Amino acid sequence: MIGSYPNTRLRRARAHAWSRAMHRETMLTPADLIWPLFVTSGQGVEEPIASLPGVSRWSVDGIVARAKEAINLGIPCIALFPNTPSDQRSEDGAAAYDPDNLMCRAIRAVRDACGNDIGILTDVALDPYTTHGQDGLLDGRGYVSNDDTVAVLVDQALNQAEAGADIIAPSDMMDGRVRAIRMALEMGGHPNVQIMSYAAKYASAFYGPFRDAVGSGGLLKGDKKSYQMDPANGEEALREVALDIQEGADSVMVKPGLAYLDIVWRVKERFDVPVFAYQVSGEYALIEAGAAAGVGDRDALVMEKLVAFKRAGCTGVLTYYAADAARLLNG
Ligand code: PBG
Repeated sequence: MIGSYPNTRLRRARAHAWSRAMHRETMLTPADLIWPLFVTSGQGVEEPIASLPGVSRWSVDGIVARAKEAINLGIPCIALFPNTPSDQRSEDGAAAYDPDNLMCRAIRAVRDACGNDIGILTDVALDPYTTHGQDGLLDGRGYVSNDDTVAVLVDQALNQAEAGADIIAPSDMMDGRVRAIRMALEMGGHPNVQIMSYAAKYASAFYGPFRDAVGSGGLLKGDKKSYQMDPANGEEALREVALDIQEGADSVMVKPGLAYLDIVWRVKERFDVPVFAYQVSGEYALIEAGAAAGVGDRDALVMEKLVAFKRAGCTGVLTYYAADAARLLNG
């Protein structure tokens, strides 16, 4: 039941800042943010990414500096993505399970420098390592074959766990990979390594700048529609989430973010599992372009979008704005 005017005037509570603060339903804090970082080769290297203004690839030493920055800002976790040198990319993406690949070197360096003061989330999928830019192994006809890919993803996940990753995040959308990775982690002496599955990941047009960042964009022929989800589907997302929970995911992710907040909400309503969303590269780039074009104040645009994730039910958000937003939140 709701009262009627004038007994009820909802504007009463909005009249002053103290009252608005007191009635605020959703809190965004730096602890809600996961910061994706791109790793590149070399020492002392920062490479700005043109399609992702304000975001750079960093060599391992720079990643360590970002990790320390995150700790100081109260950001609990970083997510690492490598820009694999082109001479280490191959048809089968074997560099993904090389214990000395960029990812593993970055994981070890952050662990050495920061101990357990920050979580390290690592992406499992072959696209940063393959010459064709697909997330898995191709059969003779250009189709990404499921079960052969899962076997390799297990090797990749174990490789990351052995280097010291805290959260394995399979972003490949193969069927059955969460179970296979969970079993391998259990058997391989990593029972406390978490899995955050990209459970509902859509075949989205919003990933373009990310593919530039990891250097797979120019290589990719065709699309990823035979494994990533159709943007028109919601029921199917719930089935994906149910399966991943059953297979051993500790938390699930919806990706992209803003255009899929209904999915976040439905997952949250249906399942008792932490749900994260990924505000992807194209979402970030659109906000930057909008702010540059005078659509509105950049910081206000950023914070309004981030709080929307929390309001929709997210436990946390992967966002390239993590550091900037944490600075704003910390005043
Ligand atoms: C790779 C992966 C992608 C993203 C995260 N992991 C791209 C893709 O699926 O093509 C996108 C992230 C972003 O756009 O910010 N499997």
